[in-house]
This record gives sequence, structure tokens and C-alpha cells, in this order.
Amino acid sequence: MVARVIPVETFDLVIFGATGDLARRKILPGLYRRWKEGQIPEGAAIIGAARSEMTREQFRAQVSEALEEFVAPQELTPEVVASFLAMIDYVTVDAKGDGGWDDLAARMRENVVRAFYLSVAPALFGDIAQRLHHRGIADRASRIVVEKPFGKDLKTAHALNADLAAHFHEDQIYRIDHYLGKETVQNLMAVRFANILFEPLWNSQFVDHVQITVAETVGVGGRGEYYDNSGAMRDMVQNHMMQLLCLIAMEPPHCFEPDAMRDEKLKVIRALDPMGPGDFVRGQYRGAGGDDYLLEAGNPDSRTESFVAMKLHISNWRWKGTPFYLRTGKRMKSRVSEIAVTFKEPPHSIFGESNQWRENVLVIRLQPDEGMDLRVMIKEPGPGGMRLKDVALDMSFAEALGNDLDMPDAYERLIMDVIRGNQTLFMRGDEVEAAWAWVDPVIQGWEARGDRPEPYDPGSTGPEGALMLMHKDGRRWREIR
Ligand code: BG6
Repeated sequence: MVARVIPVETFDLVIFGATGDLARRKILPGLYRRWKEGQIPEGAAIIGAARSEMTREQFRAQVSEALEEFVAPQELTPEVVASFLAMIDYVTVDAKGDGGWDDLAARMRENVVRAFYLSVAPALFGDIAQRLHHRGIADRASRIVVEKPFGKDLKTAHALNADLAAHFHEDQIYRIDHYLGKETVQNLMAVRFANILFEPLWNSQFVDHVQITVAETVGVGGRGEYYDNSGAMRDMVQNHMMQLLCLIAMEPPHCFEPDAMRDEKLKVIRALDPMGPGDFVRGQYRGAGGDDYLLEAGNPDSRTESFVAMKLHISNWRWKGTPFYLRTGKRMKSRVSEIAVTFKEPPHSIFGESNQWRENVLVIRLQPDEGMDLRVMIKEPGPGGMRLKDVALDMSFAEALGNDLDMPDAYERLIMDVIRGNQTLFMRGDEVEAAWAWVDPVIQGWEARGDRPEPYDPGSTGPEGALMLMHKDGRRWREIR
């Protein structure tokens, strides 16, 4: 099934940090695919901006290499690549100085959407925002896009928000959490709010607990220094996991509009109880050779967690009493992101003791093998009486919607939303700050106690302690296969 493509308006998109890793891996390949699909109109301009002295031709050659590396060969055709490259320009700009800004101003066209993607260190957000504003390059209709890490605590996030707010209004600021751009994450909203089926059961009366797992097989690799100052809590929980939690736990918004959605997500974050010392387990992968966190991080005494599991409580009418268990880690057994909603036992069994009851579980698989699976009890066929069995009503998106399903990468969707001026899938400033306000005391507690994370084997399912976190509640994690 080929997705319907509605072209966006003509735009000038300036990518600061255009020679960096994110631009090469995600932004430029994503734009190429949208161009190939016909969503980007003729006349749009993509302007790379970075500190390196380079000609437009040299930059185009770099973009061409990035496409070779990060776009599937079957998607690359010489004519499409050539027409895409023809759209690309480059300016040398000094984010902290005067150089290049006049040149950039001269290239911007009137009467087209102007978007500025800050794929640079957050320390430069304020400098760039200020220059864009003071030089008249950005106006009230322009959009500015920023990436995580959006601060490393509430104080720094608040300062970044203030830097941006000094020159841009909130309705111009697009804070990316790329999880929200994933098709399957957006599907969570469709499952919850386009079906009547689940809503009556979606509360603590019927839901025993919820598990959210984001397991990765990759380690910290070349990002050791950044990661070691961050850890799983800041890198994954404060943003991606928190967004998943919000989408699962939020009240239905009255419409699918940016602020209606974001108001409801914010309420979830604000309703989170503070976590106690027994509510989490931190882990660090420790193995021989290159699989060792301490080696990869380049810090033999690191206490940074590459894994965290935790139990959260949401204090509101809907969820009081239903725990949410979250876990995420690197160098784990396999790459799995999923959400599992486990329902409670029926109040009374008419089938007697000999039939072992199994929980109804709704599993939403975010990646890989995107799909949904609902475990239900049925009668085992045969003459042996009423014997029950649990089976899966299993649906894979690829099978249901066609194996040639075109799942755009998160960045493709999000960049097009910036051009369309739709902020629904972007985080609002108060949301980000509320998430930090919840995370900060947890991290401060760890730092104050000087806790060392529990070691786990690379390729495993995480530390022992994580299993105990659920066992002590009489529950268990879903298997990571
Ligand atoms: C990033 C984190 O935001 O998300 C990385 O910084 C992590 O550490 C990545 O690997 C996971 O994203 P995805 O799309 O591969 O699940």
C-alpha cells in the first residue's frame, strides 16, 4: 500500500549543523525520500549552514555521499538524486559571530515558508535564535526546530526555553522527540481514540499493570562521552519513554489539535508520583573487549546507567493503583520496543480450578515487526471437556496493510509537519520542563548516594534486579526474545 502524498507549501529550510551526523543520517535522507515521493514542491530550497568553509558543489558532494550511505539503493535513481541536489545550497555561518549571516539573509526568499533546523549543540540555540531574529532572517511566521538533548535537568531546559522564547513564540518552536514521528507511536492514538473497544477497560479497575519496554542491541559506540554524561534516564526516559507513557495514560483530548493533545500529556506527567528508592533498578553492561560500557564510555569509574527499569504510579482517578513498569537499555538481547497492557482476572471463573486462567494482554509492538497482539482465552478444541487455552489475536501491520508498506522514517513525517505548521507531534516547552521536574529528584538521589549500577551481560535481558522489581509485586516482565 502506497501512502497518499499531499505536497507541502514551497519552503526555504535552513539546516544549521548541516555537516553533522544527524543531518547526514536522518535529515537529508528523509528530505530526499519526501522529494522522491513528490511531497516537496519544485522551488523548495534546502540550505546547509555550518562553520566549515565549503562551496555549494562540495556540500552537494557530501549530501550525495550521505544519500549513498543512508538511503536504500533501490530508492536511489540518478535523475531523482540530481534534481534533489539541485535544490541544495550551502552557506558558511559562524553561529557565535558575524560571519555568513548577511550571506544567509540574501539567500532567503520572500513569501515562502521559512524553517530553521538547529541540528547543533543546545549551547548554540540561543546564539542562532538571536541572530536569526536580529538580522531579520526569521519573522513571525518562521519556524525553528530543535533537537534533544533539550537540557540535562530542569534548570538547563528552562534556560533553553527562555533563550528560544526571547526571539520566537511558542507556536513557532518545534521540539523534536523523534519517537512521536514513528508511525506505530502515532498508531497508539488511533488505537485508543478511534475505537470504542478499549476505552471502557482502560483504567485501574480493569488494567492490572502496563509494561513499556525499549530494548536496544546497540551500545553507546562512538557517543561514549555524551552518553556518559547522560545515561538512560536522561537519554531515553525523560523524553521517548515519557512520551509513550503519556500516549498510553492520557485522557482523550477533545480534538486532534496540538494544544489539546499536549495539555492532556502534560496532565499525565504532572500526576506522576515521585519515585522511591525501591522503585527502580539501574544497570550497566559489562563484558569482555569492546562490549564493555566502561571502555566504550572511556571512563573506568563511570556510574552512569546504560539500563534502567522502574515502577511508576500515576495519581489520578483513571490510574490510581495501576503500576506502570518501564525498562530501557543498551546492548540487550534483541531490539524490541513494545507496550503491553495486562488486564485483570475476571471476577469469577465458571470453569473451575483445573483451568488455569491466563491474563488478557494487549501488546502494541512499536518496532520491529510493528503490529498488535491481543491474548485471549478460548476453548481448546477436542472432546476432553471445557479446557481453556490462551491464544494470540495477532496482527502485523505489514501483513494487514501490505508487505510493500511504505513506513516513512520518523524524521520525514516530522520535517513535513514543520513545513505544514502542525505542532501536534512536537513537545511544548512546559511538557519538557514537567518531565525534567519529575526526573531531576530521581537522578539527584542517585548522585547523592553515589549508587553504582548493577552489571549485566551484553546480549542479556538486563540485570537481575530488574526481574526482582516485578517479582516482588508478583508479576513478571514479558520475555525479550
Ligand atoms: C536517541 C537516543 O534519542 O534514541 C539513542 O539518544 C537511542 O541513545 C535512540 O539509541 C533510539 O531511537 P530508535 O529510533 O533507534 O529507537
